[in-house]
Formats: sequence, C-alpha cells, structure tokens
Amino acid sequence: MKNITIAIDGFSSTGKSTLAKQLAKELAYVYVDTGAMYRAVALFAMNNSLIKADFFDKKALIDSLPKIQLEFKFNSDLGFAEMYLNGENVEKQIRTIEVSSFVSKVAEVSEVRSKLVEQQQEMGKNKAIVMDGRDIGTVVFPDAELKIFMTASAETRAQRRFDELQQKGDNVSYEEVLKNVVERDYIDTHREDSPLVIADDAIEIDNSYLNREEQFAAVLELVNEVVKTV
Ligand code: DC
Repeated sequence: MKNITIAIDGFSSTGKSTLAKQLAKELAYVYVDTGAMYRAVALFAMNNSLIKADFFDKKALIDSLPKIQLEFKFNSDLGFAEMYLNGENVEKQIRTIEVSSFVSKVAEVSEVRSKLVEQQQEMGKNKAIVMDGRDIGTVVFPDAELKIFMTASAETRAQRRFDELQQKGDNVSYEEVLKNVVERDYIDTHREDSPLVIADDAIEIDNSYLNREEQFAAVLELVNEVVKTV
C-alpha cells in the first residue's frame, strides 16, 4: 500500500486529534498534533511573563524563538507522542484553559508560524503521516493526498471540551469554555497569516451528530479510495 499524507484541519474541539490518532494507529502512520506545538510556544510565553491577560510582548517572543525547542517523543504506554518543550514533558500543562486562552494570540505571529511550519514540513517529508491543525491542507501540505476539514457547532464543541476539562478536575464553567471556543474561532478565522479556511480540495465532515465509530469508518473509506488512486 502506498504511503500518503493526511491533513486534518478544522475548528477547535471538533475531535480532530481523536480521529487523527485512530487513523495513525490503523495505518501505522506518524501522528502530529500541530496545536500542541502552538500551545507549547504559548506556554513558553506564559512561563517567561511575555503574555498576560492584557499584555503581550510579541517582539520578545520573536527574539526568544531560537531558544524554543519543540520535540515529540512517542509514549508507548499511551500509544501516541507527547510534546516536549526544551526537554520537559509539557503534555498536561499545554491543555489547561489558561494556555487555551493565550494560544490563538501566539498563533497569529507570523514568525512563530514559519518556524513551526518548517518543522512540520520536515516531519512529513517521508509521507505516512497524519497531521492535524488549522493550516495543514492549505499551507503545510498543500499537496496532501487526503484533506479533511472538520466542523461542529460551537455549543457541541464547548460541551465536549467542558466534559474533558471536568474529567481532568479543571474547575471551569461551561459558559467560560463556550466563550473561549467562540473567541478562538474568531481569531483563528480572522488572522492575517494563514487564517483557518477550508482548502478547495478538502472533504468537509460535520460531526455534530456523528459518533466516533461512524466518523472513523467514513474517513477510513476515504483513505482506502485515495490510496487506490496514487
Ligand atoms: O487544535 P488546538 O485547539 O490544540 O490548537 C491550539 C491553537 O493553535 C488554536 O487556537 C489555533 C492554533 N493552531 C494554528 O493556528 N495552526 C495550527 N496548525 C494548529 C493550531
């Protein structure tokens, strides 16, 4: 079977990473969560007091970019790779609501984007990869053989995210999560550099009413069709 590149883009909390992980496991492909990379940069900015509620020292972050080293290390117990920032496993720290509230601002910075995009392209140069994010089918791998764009209503996504955070013991309200989802959608779709848009050749999946299994089966069928034609 020929190896392909699978790009999965879409709004936050549409289950992109769940689908991408399932696909990577099934196909024995590498899975890359590019959101984790933007989150790790946001965490670096937070830890170094470069970003706060009403403050963002963009220039200092740009100047610090050479000092930010990002790496994925495969965790065989979990079955997927975890994010390391300058040698430290930050997988848990990058999933907090605080990081979520800053990450879109960090992801707007062109210098941040070009550094991460370059690293992502390097990771995918041998294909056999499933990468999820916002600009994978449009910027990172415009020639990807299969592009999926995932959507679901803001309320459905906020509820999913809220349930996840609650399970982790994060004490936030549903309203706060919904506000964050709506804000991030706005920034992600309106930023100047690589805004979230659906690629012309992407297949859109609205999973508001699809369960995980149905969605996975549908996408796997698409993969099998694409693989036959390359
Ligand atoms: O997928 P996520 O929610 O973990 O992404 C975190 C943020 O990073 C999100 O607000 C948009 C940004 N992002 C991006 O701009 N480009 C990507 N390829 C991935 C994420």
